[in-house]
Amino acid sequence: MEKLIIEGGRRLEGSVRISGAKNAALPIMAASLLTNETCTIKNVPALSDIDTMIKILKNLGLSAEKQSGTLILSGSCGKTKASYDLVSTMRASVCVLGPLLGKNRRAEVSFPGGCVIGPRPIDLHLKGIEALGAKIEIKSGYIIAKAKRLKGARIYLGGHFGSSVLATANTMMAAVLAEGVTVIENSACEPEIVDLANFLISMGARIEGQSTPTIKIKGVKKLHGAVHSVIPDRVETGTYMMAGIITGGDVFLKDARPDYIIALIDKLTECGAKIKELPGGLRVQGKKRMKPVAVTTLPYPGFPTDMQAQAMSVLCLADGISVITEKIFPERFIHISELSRMGARIMLEGPHAIIEGVKRLSGARVMASDLRASAALVLAGLAARGKTEISRIYHLDRGYEKLDKKLRGIGASIWREKDK
Ligand code: UD1
Repeated sequence: MEKLIIEGGRRLEGSVRISGAKNAALPIMAASLLTNETCTIKNVPALSDIDTMIKILKNLGLSAEKQSGTLILSGSCGKTKASYDLVSTMRASVCVLGPLLGKNRRAEVSFPGGCVIGPRPIDLHLKGIEALGAKIEIKSGYIIAKAKRLKGARIYLGGHFGSSVLATANTMMAAVLAEGVTVIENSACEPEIVDLANFLISMGARIEGQSTPTIKIKGVKKLHGAVHSVIPDRVETGTYMMAGIITGGDVFLKDARPDYIIALIDKLTECGAKIKELPGGLRVQGKKRMKPVAVTTLPYPGFPTDMQAQAMSVLCLADGISVITEKIFPERFIHISELSRMGARIMLEGPHAIIEGVKRLSGARVMASDLRASAALVLAGLAARGKTEISRIYHLDRGYEKLDKKLRGIGASIWREKDK
């Protein structure tokens, strides 16, 4: 195992290239199960979650060839079972359910279970494919979905916490090969869903309304291979924006798409950051002390839950009291205890975190608990006085391509060491 060491207090300055979006690439890779022809996916980030999905697809019968950022998936899925060993390491693997069912009329996918950010139900995934005609059984920890034929339907996919990204993806991927028309109401509008829909369209699917809460799909008999380039990662973009801001720096994020992060730009501007769209990317300038703000996480285009932890690190050093309300995963606050070890003052009251800005954070030994919480610790470490040691950084490698190298490129003092 490795740990990250950060010597904090350096102002970050320079340019970072934003990689392809993990959360777009994963369902797009799963969608390649829907055809027997070759799919070429470009701008795929080098991440352990991507490697996990490659293993799942290979187990299902596809062959995969990866050359730098390009992934070529070919062959057909002879098998229909995604096993516990792989699915349990990455929740997003549940998104093979829809395409397996669509293509083979049968899918057996290990139940993904909960995780450190709180319970993660899959009722909406099951509701979507059931409405298309699948019979579902939960047996020995597996979701077994079968259908003689899939038939288009009007489906309301809203849950207690709003729309669901991967339930929309699964339903859409099952519906593209169903008979007739499917309408998904309260579908997720996230840019990753739009990217998936665009990939499916390039494979021959007939989809309208992606990026709106009503997606309409007209089933086709067969899909063909396609070439597609994955959109830039908005969570990675936001994380580097906040790395610039928390160090009072000045960074340029090459290939960033400001239209994907409107809510984040709005909040960070309210905090006092200067953010400017330039040709080819986004320039972000922080200042010595940021202003406190109230942040509420919401489905897209609201403030993303995947940037809540990183925003908390920034607000720990703001000049006053901020409030973060988590409306997607109300228990996603595990980073608070580690930030407190670095001198943060945060009180948790149900889904609300009340953050009293402090003058400075101090470096400490902390432990990464999940992907975005780990990023929050990195940001805190960059701003803190002294040395921060972050253990269990395999979480970071799941979702941030070459994080330490990219941060070094803009002036951070950060490196990896073996952890005993
Ligand atoms: C995706 C993202 C994840 C992000 C999340 C919310 C991927 C690979 N992951 O996860 O990084 O944090 O969106 O933006 O894209 N829910 C139900 N029933 C369901 C499914 C979800 O009640 O069947 C609830 C969840 O508990 C949560 C909310 O709906 O409260 C949104 O979750 P969802 O959009 O489904 O998250 P994922 O798609 O799993």
